[in-house]
Amino acid sequence: EKQLKGRDFLTLADYKQEELSYLLKLAEDLKKGLKANEQEQPLKGKTLGMIFEKASTRTRVSFEVGIYQLGGMGLFLSSSDLQVGRGESVSDTAKVLSGYLDGIMIRTFSQSVVEELAEQASIPVINGLTDMYHPCQILADFQTIQENKGGLRGVKLAYIGDGNNVAHSLMLGSAIMGMDMCIAVPKGFEPDPVVTNKAQMLADLHGGNVQITTDPELAVDQADVIYTDVWTSMGQEKEKTLREEAFSGFQVNRKLVSLAKADAIIMHCLPAHREEEITAEVIDGKQSVVFQQAENRLHAQKALMTALMG
Ligand code: CP
Ligand code: NVA
Repeated sequence: EKQLKGRDFLTLADYKQEELSYLLKLAEDLKKGLKANEQEQPLKGKTLGMIFEKASTRTRVSFEVGIYQLGGMGLFLSSSDLQVGRGESVSDTAKVLSGYLDGIMIRTFSQSVVEELAEQASIPVINGLTDMYHPCQILADFQTIQENKGGLRGVKLAYIGDGNNVAHSLMLGSAIMGMDMCIAVPKGFEPDPVVTNKAQMLADLHGGNVQITTDPELAVDQADVIYTDVWTSMGQEKEKTLREEAFSGFQVNRKLVSLAKADAIIMHCLPAHREEEITAEVIDGKQSVVFQQAENRLHAQKALMTALMG
Protein backbone atom coordinates (compact mmCIF):
# COMPACT_ATOMS: atom_id res chain seq x y z
CA GLU A 1 0.00 0.00 0.00
CA LYS A 2 2.76 2.42 1.05
CA GLN A 3 4.72 1.63 -2.12
CA LEU A 4 1.85 2.82 -4.32
CA LYS A 5 1.33 6.26 -2.78
CA GLY A 6 2.60 9.01 -5.09
CA ARG A 7 3.34 6.64 -7.96
CA ASP A 8 2.41 7.21 -11.60
CA PHE A 9 0.35 4.67 -13.55
CA LEU A 10 1.69 4.89 -17.10
CA THR A 11 1.98 1.23 -18.09
CA LEU A 12 1.32 -2.08 -16.34
CA ALA A 13 4.95 -3.03 -16.94
CA ASP A 14 5.90 -0.68 -14.07
CA TYR A 15 3.83 -2.72 -11.60
CA LYS A 16 4.58 -5.97 -9.81
CA GLN A 17 2.17 -8.88 -9.56
CA GLU A 18 1.51 -8.24 -5.86
CA GLU A 19 0.83 -4.55 -6.53
CA LEU A 20 -1.74 -5.37 -9.22
CA SER A 21 -3.28 -8.02 -6.94
CA TYR A 22 -3.50 -5.42 -4.17
CA LEU A 23 -5.30 -2.97 -6.50
CA LEU A 24 -7.72 -5.68 -7.64
CA LYS A 25 -8.52 -6.67 -4.07
CA LEU A 26 -9.13 -3.01 -3.18
CA ALA A 27 -11.39 -2.68 -6.23
CA GLU A 28 -13.37 -5.71 -5.07
CA ASP A 29 -13.73 -4.24 -1.57
CA LEU A 30 -14.78 -0.83 -2.90
CA LYS A 31 -17.37 -2.47 -5.12
CA LYS A 32 -18.86 -4.34 -2.14
CA GLY A 33 -18.83 -1.16 -0.05
CA LEU A 34 -20.69 0.73 -2.71
CA LYS A 35 -23.39 -1.88 -2.87
CA ALA A 36 -23.68 -1.83 0.94
CA ASN A 37 -23.67 1.98 0.87
CA GLU A 38 -20.98 2.33 3.52
CA GLN A 39 -18.50 4.44 1.60
CA GLU A 40 -15.52 5.99 3.27
CA GLN A 41 -14.12 9.13 1.70
CA PRO A 42 -10.37 8.48 1.47
CA LEU A 43 -9.86 11.32 -1.05
CA LYS A 44 -11.83 13.97 0.78
CA GLY A 45 -10.91 17.42 -0.59
CA LYS A 46 -8.61 16.03 -3.29
CA THR A 47 -8.76 17.00 -6.94
CA LEU A 48 -8.04 15.09 -10.13
CA GLY A 49 -7.45 16.95 -13.40
CA MET A 50 -8.57 14.92 -16.40
CA ILE A 51 -6.95 15.96 -19.68
CA PHE A 52 -8.65 14.60 -22.80
CA GLU A 53 -7.19 14.90 -26.27
CA LYS A 54 -9.51 12.13 -27.55
CA ALA A 55 -13.19 11.32 -27.03
CA SER A 56 -14.36 9.22 -24.08
CA THR A 57 -17.52 7.95 -22.43
CA ARG A 58 -16.37 5.35 -19.88
CA THR A 59 -13.03 6.80 -18.85
CA ARG A 60 -14.32 10.29 -18.31
CA VAL A 61 -17.49 9.37 -16.46
CA SER A 62 -15.95 6.62 -14.33
CA PHE A 63 -13.04 8.82 -13.20
CA GLU A 64 -15.27 11.82 -12.53
CA VAL A 65 -17.88 9.83 -10.61
CA GLY A 66 -15.17 7.77 -8.93
CA ILE A 67 -13.30 10.69 -7.41
CA TYR A 68 -16.59 12.27 -6.32
CA GLN A 69 -17.60 9.06 -4.52
CA LEU A 70 -14.21 9.05 -2.79
CA GLY A 71 -14.84 12.55 -1.43
CA GLY A 72 -12.87 14.53 -4.01
CA MET A 73 -13.63 16.24 -7.27
CA GLY A 74 -12.64 15.81 -10.90
CA LEU A 75 -11.99 18.57 -13.42
CA PHE A 76 -12.64 17.78 -17.06
CA LEU A 77 -9.91 19.50 -19.09
CA SER A 78 -10.35 19.31 -22.84
CA SER A 79 -6.97 19.76 -24.50
CA SER A 80 -8.59 22.03 -27.08
CA ASP A 81 -9.51 24.46 -24.27
CA LEU A 82 -6.17 24.26 -22.45
CA GLN A 83 -3.24 26.47 -23.40
CA VAL A 84 -1.34 23.29 -24.25
CA GLY A 85 -3.62 23.14 -27.31
CA ARG A 86 -2.17 26.53 -28.33
CA GLY A 87 1.43 25.53 -27.85
CA GLU A 88 2.19 25.86 -24.13
CA SER A 89 4.71 23.15 -23.27
CA VAL A 90 3.75 19.89 -21.58
CA SER A 91 6.47 20.59 -19.04
CA ASP A 92 5.09 24.02 -18.01
CA THR A 93 1.58 22.56 -17.92
CA ALA A 94 2.79 19.77 -15.62
CA LYS A 95 4.44 22.18 -13.21
CA VAL A 96 1.49 24.56 -13.08
CA LEU A 97 -1.10 21.81 -12.60
CA SER A 98 1.05 20.28 -9.82
CA GLY A 99 0.41 23.44 -7.84
CA TYR A 100 -3.36 23.02 -7.94
CA LEU A 101 -4.17 19.33 -8.20
CA ASP A 102 -3.53 16.05 -6.36
CA GLY A 103 -3.44 13.93 -9.50
CA ILE A 104 -3.71 14.08 -13.29
CA MET A 105 -5.35 11.60 -15.63
CA ILE A 106 -4.48 12.07 -19.28
CA ARG A 107 -5.81 10.56 -22.52
CA THR A 108 -3.71 11.46 -25.53
CA PHE A 109 -1.97 10.06 -28.60
CA SER A 110 1.69 9.69 -27.76
CA GLN A 111 2.94 7.71 -24.77
CA SER A 112 5.96 10.04 -24.65
CA VAL A 113 3.67 12.99 -23.79
CA VAL A 114 2.31 11.05 -20.82
CA GLU A 115 5.85 10.17 -19.76
CA GLU A 116 6.99 13.79 -20.02
CA LEU A 117 3.97 14.99 -18.05
CA ALA A 118 4.73 12.43 -15.34
CA GLU A 119 8.38 13.35 -15.23
CA GLN A 120 7.67 17.08 -14.86
CA ALA A 121 4.67 16.83 -12.52
CA SER A 122 5.16 16.36 -8.78
CA ILE A 123 1.79 14.56 -8.46
CA PRO A 124 0.69 11.11 -9.72
CA VAL A 125 -0.09 10.88 -13.43
CA ILE A 126 -2.50 8.20 -14.67
CA ASN A 127 -2.59 7.03 -18.28
CA GLY A 128 -6.21 7.12 -19.46
CA LEU A 129 -5.23 5.68 -22.90
CA THR A 130 -2.56 6.44 -25.44
CA ASP A 131 -1.90 4.93 -28.86
CA MET A 132 0.42 2.53 -27.02
CA TYR A 133 -1.34 1.50 -23.78
CA HIS A 134 -4.62 1.45 -21.86
CA PRO A 135 -3.66 0.20 -18.37
CA CYS A 136 -6.82 1.40 -16.53
CA GLN A 137 -8.94 -0.71 -18.88
CA ILE A 138 -7.00 -3.84 -18.01
CA LEU A 139 -7.47 -3.34 -14.25
CA ALA A 140 -11.24 -3.41 -14.82
CA ASP A 141 -10.89 -6.35 -17.23
CA PHE A 142 -8.98 -8.39 -14.67
CA GLN A 143 -11.49 -7.57 -11.96
CA THR A 144 -14.20 -8.85 -14.33
CA ILE A 145 -12.27 -12.04 -15.16
CA GLN A 146 -11.73 -12.72 -11.45
CA GLU A 147 -15.45 -12.27 -10.80
CA ASN A 148 -16.35 -14.75 -13.52
CA LYS A 149 -13.48 -17.24 -13.40
CA GLY A 150 -12.47 -17.07 -9.73
CA GLY A 151 -8.90 -15.95 -10.46
CA LEU A 152 -6.38 -15.02 -13.13
CA ARG A 153 -3.50 -17.49 -12.99
CA GLY A 154 -3.74 -20.04 -15.79
CA VAL A 155 -6.83 -18.44 -17.34
CA LYS A 156 -6.65 -18.63 -21.13
CA LEU A 157 -7.41 -15.30 -22.79
CA ALA A 158 -7.80 -15.07 -26.57
CA TYR A 159 -7.56 -11.58 -28.03
CA ILE A 160 -8.80 -11.19 -31.61
CA GLY A 161 -8.08 -7.99 -33.51
CA ASP A 162 -5.69 -5.09 -33.65
CA GLY A 163 -2.32 -5.41 -31.89
CA ASN A 164 -2.38 -1.90 -30.43
CA ASN A 165 -3.10 -0.15 -27.12
CA VAL A 166 -5.61 -2.51 -25.45
CA ALA A 167 -3.81 -5.60 -26.77
CA HIS A 168 -0.45 -4.25 -25.55
CA SER A 169 -1.71 -3.65 -22.04
CA LEU A 170 -3.52 -7.01 -21.97
CA MET A 171 -0.29 -8.74 -22.99
CA LEU A 172 1.74 -7.06 -20.25
CA GLY A 173 -0.97 -7.58 -17.64
CA SER A 174 -1.55 -11.23 -18.57
CA ALA A 175 2.16 -11.91 -18.43
CA ILE A 176 2.54 -10.32 -14.99
CA MET A 177 -0.47 -12.22 -13.62
CA GLY A 178 0.65 -15.59 -15.02
CA MET A 179 -2.14 -15.94 -17.54
CA ASP A 180 -2.10 -17.77 -20.86
CA MET A 181 -2.74 -15.26 -23.65
CA CYS A 182 -3.01 -15.90 -27.34
CA ILE A 183 -3.48 -12.98 -29.67
CA ALA A 184 -4.73 -13.36 -33.25
CA VAL A 185 -3.91 -10.43 -35.54
CA PRO A 186 -3.82 -9.97 -39.31
CA LYS A 187 -0.38 -9.64 -40.86
CA GLY A 188 0.86 -6.07 -40.54
CA PHE A 189 -1.16 -5.37 -37.38
CA GLU A 190 1.02 -7.25 -34.91
CA PRO A 191 1.77 -5.81 -31.49
CA ASP A 192 4.89 -3.66 -31.16
CA PRO A 193 7.88 -6.05 -30.95
CA VAL A 194 9.23 -4.16 -27.93
CA VAL A 195 5.99 -4.90 -26.05
CA THR A 196 5.94 -8.51 -27.26
CA ASN A 197 9.48 -9.10 -26.00
CA LYS A 198 8.74 -7.46 -22.68
CA ALA A 199 5.53 -9.47 -22.27
CA GLN A 200 7.29 -12.73 -23.12
CA MET A 201 10.02 -11.97 -20.60
CA LEU A 202 7.43 -11.17 -17.91
CA ALA A 203 5.45 -14.30 -18.81
CA ASP A 204 8.55 -16.48 -18.36
CA LEU A 205 9.14 -14.88 -14.98
CA HIS A 206 5.56 -15.47 -13.77
CA GLY A 207 4.71 -18.81 -15.35
CA GLY A 208 2.46 -17.28 -17.99
CA ASN A 209 2.43 -17.52 -21.74
CA VAL A 210 1.99 -14.96 -24.54
CA GLN A 211 1.59 -16.20 -28.09
CA ILE A 212 0.84 -14.45 -31.37
CA THR A 213 -0.86 -16.02 -34.37
CA THR A 214 -2.70 -14.96 -37.52
CA ASP A 215 -5.33 -17.68 -36.95
CA PRO A 216 -8.33 -16.66 -34.78
CA GLU A 217 -9.53 -20.30 -34.58
CA LEU A 218 -6.22 -21.38 -33.11
CA ALA A 219 -6.29 -18.48 -30.64
CA VAL A 220 -9.74 -19.32 -29.21
CA ASP A 221 -9.05 -23.05 -28.80
CA GLN A 222 -9.63 -23.87 -25.08
CA ALA A 223 -10.11 -20.15 -24.32
CA ASP A 224 -11.83 -19.05 -21.08
CA VAL A 225 -12.07 -15.47 -22.31
CA ILE A 226 -12.52 -14.05 -25.82
CA TYR A 227 -11.67 -10.37 -26.05
CA THR A 228 -11.90 -7.98 -28.97
CA ASP A 229 -11.58 -4.25 -29.69
CA VAL A 230 -12.42 -1.94 -32.59
CA TRP A 231 -10.60 -2.34 -35.90
CA THR A 232 -10.12 1.40 -36.30
CA SER A 233 -8.89 3.13 -33.16
CA MET A 234 -9.16 6.83 -32.38
CA GLY A 235 -6.75 8.72 -34.62
CA GLN A 236 -6.78 6.03 -37.36
CA GLU A 237 -10.02 7.11 -39.05
CA LYS A 238 -8.30 7.58 -42.43
CA GLU A 239 -7.40 3.87 -42.50
CA LYS A 240 -10.96 2.68 -41.91
CA THR A 241 -11.54 1.05 -45.32
CA LEU A 242 -8.14 -0.58 -45.44
CA ARG A 243 -8.64 -1.92 -41.94
CA GLU A 244 -12.12 -3.31 -42.63
CA GLU A 245 -10.56 -5.39 -45.37
CA ALA A 246 -7.54 -6.51 -43.37
CA PHE A 247 -9.64 -7.53 -40.35
CA SER A 248 -12.54 -9.15 -42.23
CA GLY A 249 -11.59 -12.67 -41.08
CA PHE A 250 -11.20 -11.52 -37.47
CA GLN A 251 -14.81 -11.04 -36.42
CA VAL A 252 -15.92 -12.49 -33.08
CA ASN A 253 -19.08 -14.32 -34.14
CA ARG A 254 -21.09 -17.38 -33.11
CA LYS A 255 -18.87 -19.77 -35.07
CA LEU A 256 -15.66 -18.50 -33.49
CA VAL A 257 -17.17 -18.50 -30.00
CA SER A 258 -18.28 -22.12 -30.48
CA LEU A 259 -14.62 -23.16 -30.78
CA ALA A 260 -13.72 -21.86 -27.30
CA LYS A 261 -14.67 -23.47 -23.97
CA ALA A 262 -18.45 -23.73 -23.55
CA ASP A 263 -18.35 -21.36 -20.56
CA ALA A 264 -16.05 -18.78 -22.16
CA ILE A 265 -16.89 -15.16 -21.42
CA ILE A 266 -16.92 -12.47 -24.12
CA MET A 267 -15.21 -9.18 -23.43
CA HIS A 268 -14.87 -5.85 -25.27
CA CYS A 269 -13.46 -2.63 -23.84
CA LEU A 270 -16.17 -0.68 -25.74
CA PRO A 271 -17.14 1.34 -27.72
CA ALA A 272 -18.17 -1.55 -30.01
CA HIS A 273 -19.14 -1.65 -33.64
CA ARG A 274 -21.74 -4.37 -34.06
CA GLU A 275 -21.31 -6.56 -37.16
CA GLU A 276 -17.73 -5.34 -37.57
CA GLU A 277 -15.34 -6.74 -34.93
CA ILE A 278 -18.19 -8.52 -33.10
CA THR A 279 -21.70 -9.61 -34.06
CA ALA A 280 -24.71 -8.18 -32.21
CA GLU A 281 -25.73 -11.73 -31.35
CA VAL A 282 -22.45 -12.35 -29.50
CA ILE A 283 -22.00 -9.02 -27.74
CA ASP A 284 -25.65 -9.02 -26.63
CA GLY A 285 -25.63 -12.76 -25.89
CA LYS A 286 -25.50 -14.78 -22.64
CA GLN A 287 -21.72 -15.16 -22.55
CA SER A 288 -21.04 -11.45 -22.87
CA VAL A 289 -19.85 -9.56 -19.76
CA VAL A 290 -19.17 -6.23 -21.47
CA PHE A 291 -21.39 -4.11 -19.21
CA GLN A 292 -20.02 -5.68 -16.04
CA GLN A 293 -16.60 -4.90 -17.50
CA ALA A 294 -17.60 -1.28 -18.18
CA GLU A 295 -18.99 -0.88 -14.64
CA ASN A 296 -15.76 -2.21 -13.19
CA ARG A 297 -13.87 0.74 -14.68
CA LEU A 298 -15.43 2.74 -11.83
CA HIS A 299 -14.40 0.35 -9.06
CA ALA A 300 -10.92 -0.40 -10.42
CA GLN A 301 -10.08 3.28 -10.91
CA LYS A 302 -11.40 4.17 -7.46
CA ALA A 303 -8.94 1.60 -6.11
CA LEU A 304 -6.17 3.09 -8.24
CA MET A 305 -6.87 6.69 -7.16
CA THR A 306 -7.15 5.66 -3.51
CA ALA A 307 -3.79 3.88 -3.67
CA LEU A 308 -1.89 6.56 -5.59
CA MET A 309 -3.51 9.73 -4.24
CA GLY A 310 -4.73 8.69 -0.76
N1 CP B 1 -13.07 1.64 -22.91
C1 CP B 1 -12.89 2.99 -22.87
O1 CP B 1 -11.82 3.50 -22.50
O2 CP B 1 -13.98 3.72 -23.22
P1 CP B 1 -14.05 5.31 -23.50
O3 CP B 1 -13.26 5.56 -24.75
O4 CP B 1 -15.50 5.59 -23.64
O5 CP B 1 -13.43 6.02 -22.32
N1 NVA C 1 -8.35 0.78 -29.31
C1 NVA C 1 -9.38 1.73 -29.01
C2 NVA C 1 -9.78 1.65 -27.57
C3 NVA C 1 -10.85 2.60 -27.12
C4 NVA C 1 -11.16 2.50 -25.66
C5 NVA C 1 -8.93 3.12 -29.38
O1 NVA C 1 -7.75 3.45 -29.13
O2 NVA C 1 -9.71 3.89 -29.95
